[in-house]
Amino acid sequence: MSGLFVELLPDYVALREADPREYPSDLSPLTPEEAALVERAVDKRRREYTAGRVLAREAAACLGVDGLVLVNDERRAPMWPEGLVGSITHTRTWCAAAVARRADVRSVGLDVEQDAPLRPKLWDTVCTRRDLAWLQAQPEAARGWLAKALFSAKEAAYKAQYLLTAQLLGFHAMSVRIDAEAGSWRATFERPSGGEFAVGDVLEGRMRRANGLIATALVIR
Ligand SMILES: CC(C)(COP(=O)(O)OP(=O)(O)OC[C@H]1O[C@@H](n2cnc3c(N)ncnc32)[C@H](O)[C@@H]1OP(=O)(O)O)[C@@H](O)C(=O)NCCC(=O)NCCS
Repeated sequence: MSGLFVELLPDYVALREADPREYPSDLSPLTPEEAALVERAVDKRRREYTAGRVLAREAAACLGVDGLVLVNDERRAPMWPEGLVGSITHTRTWCAAAVARRADVRSVGLDVEQDAPLRPKLWDTVCTRRDLAWLQAQPEAARGWLAKALFSAKEAAYKAQYLLTAQLLGFHAMSVRIDAEAGSWRATFERPSGGEFAVGDVLEGRMRRANGLIATALVIR
């Protein structure tokens, strides 16, 4: 696959994508401080973490920033250096990293999920009452994958807001509407976040369904 997220982001956001299985599990592409965070992890986690770091470094280099070193905070969020913002996502078969200049965008969020229906027993955990009412109004055959897309949009929106607020949010903090035909979605805050977002504020993102994957992305300007 050449690119999953490429149509979802404006061209001032640098994007790199790859299959994490192509990356070594020996941590050799990482700096010592990056490697320290996954030294005890299993091979799969080492590969996906390595892929994310290498791709983020390559994306930063596209913006003229060489030698990006990216470690995560205690909640696992990457600590982007002064002047840059970005996002990383991975699933078993795909990984993407997006990086932008803080002067161009305030935040970025990416998420990728396997395109399998969200299990109905998870719906109440992931969905607000508004989400559930919207899902019930969709054609029955589409509800499972739309619920998965909604989950993915919440993960992407969560990552993007975290860069601005450092707030942990539960899944009921936002309601999401997917417009599958337009390849877009809107997340509306049901709870405030960090003095930055009020109830009713909206984040708008893009989505794509291809190669057995669902990708969601947003940029906050
Ligand atoms: C953190 C979380 C969003 C990660 O999502 P995921 O689907 O499990 O995994 P992904 O591969 O898509 O993303 C993982 C990457 O996200 C990044 N990340 C992790 N926490 C983050 C945060 N708080 N903010 C921004 N980016 C974060 C990291 O780069 C991580 O990869 P790495 O550990 O290799 O560096 C998810 O595990 C989580 O905690 N979700 C609950 C919170 C939530 O989504 N609330 C919804 C609000 S409406």
